[in-house]
Amino acid sequence: MVKKISLLGCAALFAANMQAQSPSTLNLIPLPEKCTVQAGAFTINPQTKIVLSANTAQMQHAVARLNEQLSSAAGFSLAVVERGAGDNALTCTLNPKLKSDEAYKLSVKKNSVQVEAKTPRGIFYAMQTIRQLLPPQIESKQPATGVKWAIPCVEIEDAPRYGYRGLHLDVGRHFMSKNEVMQYIDLLAYHKMNTFHWHLTEDQGWRIEIKKYPKLTEVGGYRNRTLKGAYVAAEKRQWDNTRYGGFYTQEDVKEVLAYAEKRFVTVIPEVELPGHAVAALTAYPQYSCTGGPFEVEGLWGVHNDIFCPKEETFTFLEDILAEIADLFPSEYIHIGGDEAPKTRWSRCHACQERIKKEGLKDEHELQAYFIKRVEKFLAGKGKKIIGWDEILEGGITPSATVMYWRAWGGDSSIVSAIRRGHNVIMTPNSHAYLDYYQANPKTEPHAIGGYLPLWRVYSFEPTPASLTPDEATRVLGFQGNVWTEYMPNFERVIYMAYPRAAAIAEIGWISKGKRDYDSFQERLIQLMTRYDIMGIRCNRTFLSEGRSEKKEK
Ligand code: ACM
Ligand code: ZN
Repeated sequence: MVKKISLLGCAALFAANMQAQSPSTLNLIPLPEKCTVQAGAFTINPQTKIVLSANTAQMQHAVARLNEQLSSAAGFSLAVVERGAGDNALTCTLNPKLKSDEAYKLSVKKNSVQVEAKTPRGIFYAMQTIRQLLPPQIESKQPATGVKWAIPCVEIEDAPRYGYRGLHLDVGRHFMSKNEVMQYIDLLAYHKMNTFHWHLTEDQGWRIEIKKYPKLTEVGGYRNRTLKGAYVAAEKRQWDNTRYGGFYTQEDVKEVLAYAEKRFVTVIPEVELPGHAVAALTAYPQYSCTGGPFEVEGLWGVHNDIFCPKEETFTFLEDILAEIADLFPSEYIHIGGDEAPKTRWSRCHACQERIKKEGLKDEHELQAYFIKRVEKFLAGKGKKIIGWDEILEGGITPSATVMYWRAWGGDSSIVSAIRRGHNVIMTPNSHAYLDYYQANPKTEPHAIGGYLPLWRVYSFEPTPASLTPDEATRVLGFQGNVWTEYMPNFERVIYMAYPRAAAIAEIGWISKGKRDYDSFQERLIQLMTRYDIMGIRCNRTFLSEGRSEKKEK
């Protein structure tokens, strides 16, 4: 019997059927746009083939991840062929008629599985759906015995709401190894997110090798002390005096990029300017206003020493950005732009001369001048810029994409930026700062502050209600930010990011009317079985917060 059910019903039915149908469940995150569940299942066995309608590298990548999991969990992988019989096969066909590059159709029948997508990216997402439809043991790193590798019969038509679905990681405050970064990318791709925002430079550490300026990493990659515990008044601060640091060579970066490409993840590098530059200025103090000397910071927060907009600083930054632009294929480069105090600029001769020479009103216009010059330079390299929402202060060309984080300003600033022609990416600290506490601070590891439980992340609507449909297309998507001041290692990063990142992924994917927090929690509970098998230790406090709780604690 074929059951047509609503999306919510789809999840609920499977939650209800789980005992009966175990281990096949349909606890998908993000929830597909349309799904119809049928009786029966397709079972993968060692003779099952993957048939690709086009044998390109991208098509191979699209199916490789599923095959890797089968290889480790089932002990066999599937032959990938170009043509073949429809039976006992997962047939992947490119179909230009699908509505977007990331859309896919998945039809699982007892004898065969058909996948259609406009691009290999859509095929990849269908494969992630298949992974989640298979028994949880598919995530095992060791062969799992006695498992029937069954995929329930379903008809799914799916496409994301937003083209940008991101997760950020600050490796400046705490360094995460190349392998950890790759794990982070793998996990976000599993949730059908498509962008990794790599925050590579900070006051507390410069993390990417720049060939022309080796001291950036030799000197700027290491600090002599780190604040221990809470950020308290100066006289009460405690320090860990262990030398701390690390950086990625350009070869490391290439490895990460190749890994991300196979998962259809775009890596957007961030080079912070003009602020959050103390590590760079420690290595090259001549590009500051005062000339230094400086020390790579061990204290969090906002620091006054920033790049001085003199000619030689632009040469320095352009040399750096030229290497970054060559290394990263992304069309966007994030240039920071946030939290740049004007304390030094207001007293610096070179800065004041620049203000006069360029006919600028004040230091805010000087910052806009700074960003515009960098934007123009990068445009010459075929790149567009993203900046934190401070780039709007002092005026900036609408070609810059704005990453909105200061939710305390309300929606109005971002709505007016959209009306002036900017594209925006929503990462408001009210809903997307995954460094905030997700439960009672008394029972959680020390965090930066704030309170952002899972339900609140899930309640976010990325598109402000006052926008016209045309203006709404300028909201590119939603991203979670993971600042690591209080995340000394990767285990803590994962604990803070997940499961809230799963909510970010779902809100970025599903239509507005489809969201349902109860259904999300039901599906998440099942997904967590998979996290356990993957070795992902996420936060579990939402399990005790009450299913529909919407109140402040
Ligand atoms: C930020 O949180 N300073 C972008
Ligand atoms: Zn200056």
